Amino acid sequence: MYEYLRQLPKTELHLHIEGSLEPELMFRLAKRNGIALDYASVEDVKAAYRFDNLQGFLNLYYQGMNVLRTREDFYDLAIDYFKRASDEGVVHIDMHFDPQAHLVRGVALDEVMEGLFRAKEEAEASLDLSIGMIMAFLRDRSQEEALEVFEQAAPYWTRLDAIGLDSAERDNPPVKFKALFERAAKEGLALVAHAGEEGPADYIRQALDELKITRVDHGVRCLDDSELVERLRSEQVVLTVCPLSNVCLKVIDELGEHPLPALIEEGLKVTISSDDPAYFGGGLLANHVACRDAFGWDESVFKALNRNALEEAFIAEPRRKALLQRLDSIGE
Ligand code: ADE
Ligand code: ZN
Repeated sequence: MYEYLRQLPKTELHLHIEGSLEPELMFRLAKRNGIALDYASVEDVKAAYRFDNLQGFLNLYYQGMNVLRTREDFYDLAIDYFKRASDEGVVHIDMHFDPQAHLVRGVALDEVMEGLFRAKEEAEASLDLSIGMIMAFLRDRSQEEALEVFEQAAPYWTRLDAIGLDSAERDNPPVKFKALFERAAKEGLALVAHAGEEGPADYIRQALDELKITRVDHGVRCLDDSELVERLRSEQVVLTVCPLSNVCLKVIDELGEHPLPALIEEGLKVTISSDDPAYFGGGLLANHVACRDAFGWDESVFKALNRNALEEAFIAEPRRKALLQRLDSIGE
């Protein structure tokens, strides 16, 4: 089964590239940039990765990315992850990145974008991997700032696939960013948002109604609201569920209690992703293996979840078609 899951062509729709920063690379970049870390060793860093909730994680996540300063750093960050993901059978990644988290530290937008785009282009040319780009905005900051950053990114709009909304969900309802999402829609970008991770089911409805999103990142809290479930089912809105993330951030107590089987049972369009693999115990393959161990799913379930992801991915149509065919031809 492990070998089946490894070679299955896998697609993830929910990955924060800054959350792929492994402690080893953090130390290498800290040294290169002359930055002192609060940790003595890689083991020290790993030992610190115990979180009580989303905010506890975000504090370390924003601290960790402080080593990213130049375009080379962003290139190294992304290419490192792309190679690891490709080695474990990932064929497409829709990647979130957080420009505001770098701009507030005095890192210029061009450093972020040039580094990430170089890694994307190189990976697409040399690995069996395609990458969608989601410029994410931090919901615990103001809409005014988000709009300014969006305008600043104008030279890159044509190379982006979507905008997203992430960071601390509690008390930061989707509607706060209505004008931003309207602005991005006008530029032809797709719209996604984190909703219903720690926040209530109503934030999922708000993100659909007010922000007009077409994909829900996380969305696990939808089960609190049967009318919403019915709507997600009838519209087949995709949920990018992140099982290991939900355990690490205590959205649920343990994987065996995760609502994933219930979401599938409800007929929802579910996918699985790794969210922040360096912080949550592994990438997309580890998430697949953990689900197999927790739920005993057979091959057909994993194939269906990856088919869902491919159908909704930000990917060129010929590659989508070819990957769907490849997925279908894998024996069960
Ligand atoms: N940024 C990175 N990971 C996140 C998550 N799981 N939720 C919200 N914002 C994030
Ligand atoms: Zn996320």
